[in-house]
Amino acid sequence: MPAAPASPYTRQNPFPGKLVVNRTLCSEGSKKDTRHLEIDLTGWGLNYEVGDSMTLWPTNDPALVDEIIKTIGARGEEQVNGPKGPTTLRETLLRDCRITQTTPKFLKMIAARASAAPLLNDLLKPERKQDLDTYLWGMEVIDFLIEHPSIKWTPQELVETLAKLQPRLYSISSSLKAHPEEVHFTIDIVHYESRGRMRKGVCSTFLAERAEKVPVPVFPNTSKFRLPEDGNTPIIMVGPGTGIAPFRAYLQERKAVGAKGKNWLFFGSQHEHCNYFYKEELAELKRDGVLTRLDCAWSRDQADKSYVQHKMLNCAAEIWKWMDGEGAHFFVCGDARRMAKDVDAALRKIIQETGGKSEDVTNEYVEKLKSDKRYKRDVY
Ligand SMILES: Cc1cc2nc3c(=O)[nH]c(=O)nc-3n(C[C@H](O)[C@H](O)[C@H](O)COP(=O)(O)OP(=O)(O)OC[C@H]3O[C@@H](n4cnc5c(N)ncnc54)[C@H](O)[C@@H]3O)c2cc1C
Ligand SMILES: NC(=O)c1ccc[n+]([C@@H]2O[C@H](COP(=O)([O-])OP(=O)(O)OC[C@H]3O[C@@H](n4cnc5c(N)ncnc54)[C@H](OP(=O)(O)O)[C@@H]3O)[C@@H](O)[C@H]2O)c1
Repeated sequence: MPAAPASPYTRQNPFPGKLVVNRTLCSEGSKKDTRHLEIDLTGWGLNYEVGDSMTLWPTNDPALVDEIIKTIGARGEEQVNGPKGPTTLRETLLRDCRITQTTPKFLKMIAARASAAPLLNDLLKPERKQDLDTYLWGMEVIDFLIEHPSIKWTPQELVETLAKLQPRLYSISSSLKAHPEEVHFTIDIVHYESRGRMRKGVCSTFLAERAEKVPVPVFPNTSKFRLPEDGNTPIIMVGPGTGIAPFRAYLQERKAVGAKGKNWLFFGSQHEHCNYFYKEELAELKRDGVLTRLDCAWSRDQADKSYVQHKMLNCAAEIWKWMDGEGAHFFVCGDARRMAKDVDAALRKIIQETGGKSEDVTNEYVEKLKSDKRYKRDVY
């Protein structure tokens, strides 16, 4: 039989996906804007695995591009040599340059040319790196351009001080066995206010606001965040917020292949009434017996915070039974900075207090879980 033709799609030439579903996972009263997105992959023949993530290439907000062009007194049609080669100023700002976060080169240019920028000059000293980072939190390129109208930029000069626009990674929240030729995502849309302006995360708002009209370049990333090979192995999944994404995919996969292993999900979000992502799907999975147990932590429904690790500690004996007695695998996905550390501490507490181990033995136990690939994290 002749070999199948090689796919023309690579990281350098990503597949032009079509965004076909863009629906909110939140309802009235929500402070978050988390979306369920589906991209049609028809024509690719891609085989991703649950647990993998995808790289997506966004374009910048055209309104912000126009504002930058206007602020430097340009028209947008000027020819420039951008990070991806020669094109117009507007095109390179839309597609190739990082136009929100500043770069050291950009800041040095501002400091050198501004009629008065004593604070910035001081903050650019190597020993003040941390103060500079604090100062820059919530500051974008446009803020400096507006603040220093006396600086004259040629389009080429501006482009040369900006970094290249980077793609973003997203956990896949679907299984190909349940949704052939599709990939689903669970994405928190980044909006925040700083210095009196509304700011938008580049890729999340590209997907939420503009991607329906244009192709969405996507390419998969293979991950080690995989289900156990044996479908009979029980799994415990801890995925608050967007961390639920890969676990939705795991559950779809286990249902599709008829895996018999038990599945326990810890989910957490702000409010039960407006932030219960995939509520109906999870209820159906429970009814079908695929989702053995579901514990939810609603952090803002009572005076004291309730987080996934608190729910874990409330059922320490059952977790210990699954982990030590039944060889369960333990998965964590979502926020790296605080949640994943706190969940790790809760797991260690359960091993130590419920399992009756010393601190040293607990640490060895956790290392063994990791080396046996029974404790996996996908955190960002
Ligand atoms: C392996 C992996 C998997 C991921 N999976 C998912 C996923 O499934 N779902 C998901 O939603 N995300 C996921 N992410 C995160 C995702 O890649 C992006 O980082 C996220 O969507 C933000 O990108 P953006 O382009 O919208 O925002 P950006 O334009 O990158 O803006 C974000 C930046 O804005 C700044 N910022 C944000 N809030 C504030 C504030 N309040 N004040 C001041 N500054 C602020 C910070 O500098 C922050 O880094 C994942 C990341 C990794 C590495
Ligand atoms: N900048 C930050 O500090 C920060 C923090 C988390 C996530 N993020 C980023 O925001 C994006 C979306 O986040 P998301 O929607 O996945 O999560 P999220 O909505 O920010 O959080 C989901 C749930 O986790 C709770 N939570 C907060 N701190 C926790 C902790 N230490 N341990 C356990 N649970 C905790 C939240 O409670 P409360 O909100 O009520 O505290 C909320 O109920 C991601 O890109 C992520 O990287 C940023």
